[in-house]
Amino acid sequence: MRVLGIESSCDETAVAIYEQGKGIIAESVASQIETHAKFGGVVPEVASREHLKVLPALTQQVLSNAGCDWSSVDGIAVTAGPGLMGALLVGVTYARSVGLVNNIPVLPVHHMEGHLFAPGLSDEGLPDFPFMSLLVSGGHTLLIRVDGLGQYKVIGQTIDDAAGECFDKAARVLGLPYPGGPEIAKLAKLGDASIFKLPRPMLNKPNFNFSFSGLKTAVMYAARGCEHFDAQAKADLAAATELAIADVLVKKAMRACKAEHVETLVIAGGVAANQTLRIMLDKVSKAQDVNVFVPDLAYCTDNAAMIAYVGALRFLQNDNITNDWDANPRWKLTDLT
Ligand code: KG4
Ligand code: ZN
Repeated sequence: MRVLGIESSCDETAVAIYEQGKGIIAESVASQIETHAKFGGVVPEVASREHLKVLPALTQQVLSNAGCDWSSVDGIAVTAGPGLMGALLVGVTYARSVGLVNNIPVLPVHHMEGHLFAPGLSDEGLPDFPFMSLLVSGGHTLLIRVDGLGQYKVIGQTIDDAAGECFDKAARVLGLPYPGGPEIAKLAKLGDASIFKLPRPMLNKPNFNFSFSGLKTAVMYAARGCEHFDAQAKADLAAATELAIADVLVKKAMRACKAEHVETLVIAGGVAANQTLRIMLDKVSKAQDVNVFVPDLAYCTDNAAMIAYVGALRFLQNDNITNDWDANPRWKLTDLT
């Protein structure tokens, strides 16, 4: 079975082809980061227009790189939610059009289910079920117990800002460009995290939820209250911010694994690229006997390989593909079965 996956839920246009038995045979990601950087964040309408501009040519390029044409594609999997409505509609409409013209079934894939199964694209393959997934991106901060395809239990989530959003907003306070996570990480290397005392929101609450909007405000007040907010002070505040975010994520994730008696933790999403987070997780997990699994960086961030892969798993499980679905920007993971 050969499945072509399409991802356009936010600011990456991506296409990939997954072949059963071989894995990903071709893929490409066109990032819009530079286009949005001048606005300081993702502008939904600009994102939709960019997807529309690049998606058809990107698809042809990926087909050609795989040495395929439409006649050798058995199924199309497209991200149908959650995400930006206009951006999703571009991918869904394109997928449905090429599906109709070439007589290929089209299946909607949940973007977060793609992230959950991305480890399956690594050489090691998918860890044994159950595993805990910490999904940390610009839009999500979720702790999910995965017992199988369609078997998800949300253990915890953010009640306000996502972890990546906190990195991005704190970066703005520090005068750094979008996306802020990698910029803060770079600057933090030059700083001393102990100079500024930042809060660890909700760390002492007896649940697995997160809150990052107070931390962002604390960073703002720390900057304002600093007498000489020079380059060194900025680096110190960047280091303290990074440490505060990583500390909360690591401790809550470990507690969730313990509470659910789960031995494997998978991290995914753009924030999973953070080295401080990875180093802390590595240390703590060894002490607590939890295996930490980090997918390849390219499969931590948004991509179409994970969509093609989940699409293939779902096509193989489901012989009743209907057209009775639509793009859904608020599609819930727990609606899946
Ligand atoms: O998963 P992703 O590529 O896109 C979605 O949001 O869906 O995640 C992007 C987020 C941004 O907030 C970005 O600042 C953050 O991931 N990020 C990082 C790092 N690289 C990207 N945060 C911390 N450290 C990094 N090295
Ligand atoms: Zn994502």
